[in-house]
Amino acid sequence: MQLVNAKGMILEAQKGNYAIPAFNINNLEWIKSVLSACQEAKAPVILETSESAVKYMGGYKNVVDMVNNVVEFLNITVPVCLHLDHGTFEGAFKALDAGYTSVMFDGSKLSIDENVMKVKQVVEYAKKTNASVEGEVGGIGGTEDGVTSAGELACPEECKRLADTGIDMLAAGIGNIHGKYPANWEGLNFDRLKEIEAACKNTPLVLHGGSGIPAEMVQRAIRHGVCKVNVNTELQLAFAAGTRMYIEGGKDLDGKGFDPRKLLKPGCEMIEQTVKEKLDMFDTTGKAE
Ligand code: 13P
Repeated sequence: MQLVNAKGMILEAQKGNYAIPAFNINNLEWIKSVLSACQEAKAPVILETSESAVKYMGGYKNVVDMVNNVVEFLNITVPVCLHLDHGTFEGAFKALDAGYTSVMFDGSKLSIDENVMKVKQVVEYAKKTNASVEGEVGGIGGTEDGVTSAGELACPEECKRLADTGIDMLAAGIGNIHGKYPANWEGLNFDRLKEIEAACKNTPLVLHGGSGIPAEMVQRAIRHGVCKVNVNTELQLAFAAGTRMYIEGGKDLDGKGFDPRKLLKPGCEMIEQTVKEKLDMFDTTGKAE
């Protein structure tokens, strides 16, 4: 099965009131584990890499080849999209040239005028390969005295300006944060989400920082226009926990337990389990039947 862009799967999710999970990948183990779990659960999926993950994995071309080869080798039949997460302007073009089927251009730190101008150029370029494009609007951060208790809130008018560029999906802050949520996190801001939803009409919205958000909150966000949920930290924590159990149990010292294929297996199984939990939470299980 060839890699696809995110357009079709996102629009289906929008119609069906569920969300497509976008899992950040780091290496071969991540690619195999995420794809196996999604195939088993019959769920469409977006695999995404940050630019630092691309560097770690040996470049855009290598990521494209690895994903394609694993899809073929494991007989993956569910739709798979390969997406650049938080891409720079230059990175978005490089990823598209290498065969990514979707890119995010993160212009959220730029002025809205420059963000709009650059997003339009990425959208134009992405048309050549029929790739999908995600944009991001910045917002007011929630850090006080170095403590972050609320994530950024995007301005609905700015969201509309970005949505009007022809992007396929829009990341807009509604109090979400990357990484672990602080104990005093104020939760997602649904008033702001509803304003953004109204301003952007039908543009599918993306929820970043999908790790650790309570299920009811994610599901409520999905009812208000969120069609893609990004998850990174939870898979990293799951992998680390599985690996820790193995080492702390002294299993690497037992016979050939030091073989990387054995050593990394519990972490991979934990990734698969976490992926399936997210697919159930986002109601994506069975949607690629
Ligand atoms: P988490 O690491 O919080 O899951 O966020 C992932 C993300 O939003 C990637 O863009």
